[in-house]
Amino acid sequence: MPEAVSSIPRVLVEQGALSPGHQAAPQPGRGELLVHVTLAGVNYWDVMQRTGAVPLPASGIPGVEGVGVVAAGGDGTPADLVGRRVAWSKVTGSYAGAVVGAADWFVPVPDDLPDEQAAGLLMQGVTAQYLATDTAPLGAGDAAVVLAAAGGVGTLLTQLLVAAGVRVVGVVGSAAKVEAARAAGASEVLVDDGDDLTAAVRAVVPDGVAAVFDGNGGPDAPRALGMLRPRGWLVLFGTAAGPIPDLPAGSLGAGSYVVTRTAGKHFAGEAATWRTRAEDVLARARAGALTVAPVTVLPLTEAAEAHRLMESRSSVGKLLLRPKG
Ligand SMILES: NC(=O)c1ccc[n+]([C@@H]2O[C@H](COP(=O)([O-])OP(=O)(O)OC[C@H]3O[C@@H](n4cnc5c(N)ncnc54)[C@H](OP(=O)(O)O)[C@@H]3O)[C@@H](O)[C@H]2O)c1
Repeated sequence: MPEAVSSIPRVLVEQGALSPGHQAAPQPGRGELLVHVTLAGVNYWDVMQRTGAVPLPASGIPGVEGVGVVAAGGDGTPADLVGRRVAWSKVTGSYAGAVVGAADWFVPVPDDLPDEQAAGLLMQGVTAQYLATDTAPLGAGDAAVVLAAAGGVGTLLTQLLVAAGVRVVGVVGSAAKVEAARAAGASEVLVDDGDDLTAAVRAVVPDGVAAVFDGNGGPDAPRALGMLRPRGWLVLFGTAAGPIPDLPAGSLGAGSYVVTRTAGKHFAGEAATWRTRAEDVLARARAGALTVAPVTVLPLTEAAEAHRLMESRSSVGKLLLRPKG
């Protein structure tokens, strides 16, 4: 029998963010897997679920990512999946001891990839992968700015861009994050401390960069246009700092700029597309070309602390939650 989900985050329950009580893990239906969670990944998406910016599932349990072991499969799923280690990034209710989801959204993890890597790769890694390969057409010798370069997406995106020969100028919110951005491969790291960031970028790349990757959004987002070279791309992919103001199309004529606001569902919204990207990310990690670092593992009962770290801009790299032990 599948075991009960006994690890609902206590602190979130106390804050009223989750339904209190002991919830039984549902049985896998046709085409579904029941997976015991070894580690759940923490993403900014989960903060948005908790604060209501995006919907929580009916269970009230946040989280969409993790690594674990298949405990049971419903009708129509391959029997040899039971006992396999799998990872996922689109299965709701992942801050738990067990999850149930459609088998298509779980991908087997190579034996030689540790749980701490596999658990943190797919949400931020698939995002970084589509940003690096399917937005701004960058090539060797181009320069790009990555905001929040010490964050989950930021560290992985920086690694992918650097591997493609791009010179990355990382931007971080505090001096404590400089080392993580450098370790990811950024050749210059700027601390966004309230001074003129556009001027700071121009000081290191006088002609402007070919792309700015901005997952922060917020009222400052339009300043990135001033960092671009002619025909440069502003790739907006998140709103950690708040909503993105409207940009008048006419202002793009100053440099024939291209602006996109991406949503993951348009790049990895179908299971087959997501899977191709996820397998690419896992293969790169296995080859040592992509590393989740630094990794901080907290007990699942400290899920609220994980969110506090992320919302206060104190998190660096990847936060993971361990349901047991
Ligand atoms: N469009 C997509 O497909 C997609 C997919 C996944 C994630 N995202 C978005 O990408 C962004 C990064 O996600 P992540 O999970 O990798 O998180 P993360 O970067 O690990 O953490 C968020 C970071 O955002 C930065 N930030 C800037 N202003 C902030 C503010 N006012 N409050 C909180 N954080 C602020 C902070 O870095 P600094 O202190 O260094 O500035 C913070 O560490 C988020 O906006 C997320 O929603 C988009």
